[in-house]
Amino acid sequence: AGLNTAAVAKGKLYFGTATDNPELTDTAYVTQLNNTDDFGQITPGNSQKWDTIEPTQNTFSYTKGDVIANLAKANGQKLRCHNLVWHSQLPSWVTSGTWTNATLLAAMKNHITNVVTHYKGDCYAWDVVNEALNEDGSYRESIWYTTIGPAYLPIAFATAAAADPNVKLYYNDYNIEYSGSKATGALNIVKLIQSYGVKIDGVGLQGHFIVGSTPSQSSQASTMAAYTALGVEVAITELDIRMTLPSTDALLAQQKTDYSGTVAACVATKNCVGVTIWDWTDKYSWVPSTFSGQGAACPWDENYVKKPAYTGILTAL
Ligand code: XIL
Repeated sequence: AGLNTAAVAKGKLYFGTATDNPELTDTAYVTQLNNTDDFGQITPGNSQKWDTIEPTQNTFSYTKGDVIANLAKANGQKLRCHNLVWHSQLPSWVTSGTWTNATLLAAMKNHITNVVTHYKGDCYAWDVVNEALNEDGSYRESIWYTTIGPAYLPIAFATAAAADPNVKLYYNDYNIEYSGSKATGALNIVKLIQSYGVKIDGVGLQGHFIVGSTPSQSSQASTMAAYTALGVEVAITELDIRMTLPSTDALLAQQKTDYSGTVAACVATKNCVGVTIWDWTDKYSWVPSTFSGQGAACPWDENYVKKPAYTGILTAL
């Protein structure tokens, strides 16, 4: 069995991968992306972000996002939709606009309502708010927070819920997979949204890890349990485990262990619904262009050969 088949046999909803529009011209890449034995779920890596969808205020461009939504639909793969409100990949009309609380709230609600309505019925889940926290658990000083205050979070979730009452609504972040100030901040976000009487269904644990310093299986499982105790599900939403290049046999062996432990934490957690890797091949990983000198973070190498990490995942499932 492949990764998705094994995940479903363990009671998970899916094992999936991110993808992005430029890669879809590579036919060998697309053949594996379409392999539902490995991938039962797809996340668009960029094409549902604000700068792509609403580059000019109130002008919506769904072409790129639709290509990926339609690919998933054709394959019978679930779609995790990503994302609605984030500080990054915003168009300049948002970041350089002159806003009041009322005008920015109206622009945020208009964006959420349009995008969620457009994809209504296509998404298993939406990442409604992405990366709202600093490392110390305080709120990131994004335009959303500085203009609207923490109420932008429950208002974003309420707006998404009104547009599609059936889609799962997630808060998604990194470095919240192990206990500490930032995980406490994420727990407080769940409680804040709930305190407004607004629906939040899940917490997305991005899982951008480093070979050899990935949080342990037990640490990840106990943190997942803290979220699910609040009545929400969890998912690993953007898993990749990078190393300082060049890759060696020892690093690949440690990477296998790290992938295995992370996936095992989700398997052991009843309300961890699935695992998504942040693209499946090193050829199209975001890591080398973002973390200088690092890479080889995916379970397949740049020639589409399975690395030891693939077996590590499969044995955890
Ligand atoms: C990344 C994409 O993979 C890159 O192609 C893009 O240049 C930057 O964003 N956390 C997230 C994702 O929630 O949206 C980010 O995706 C990776 C980190």
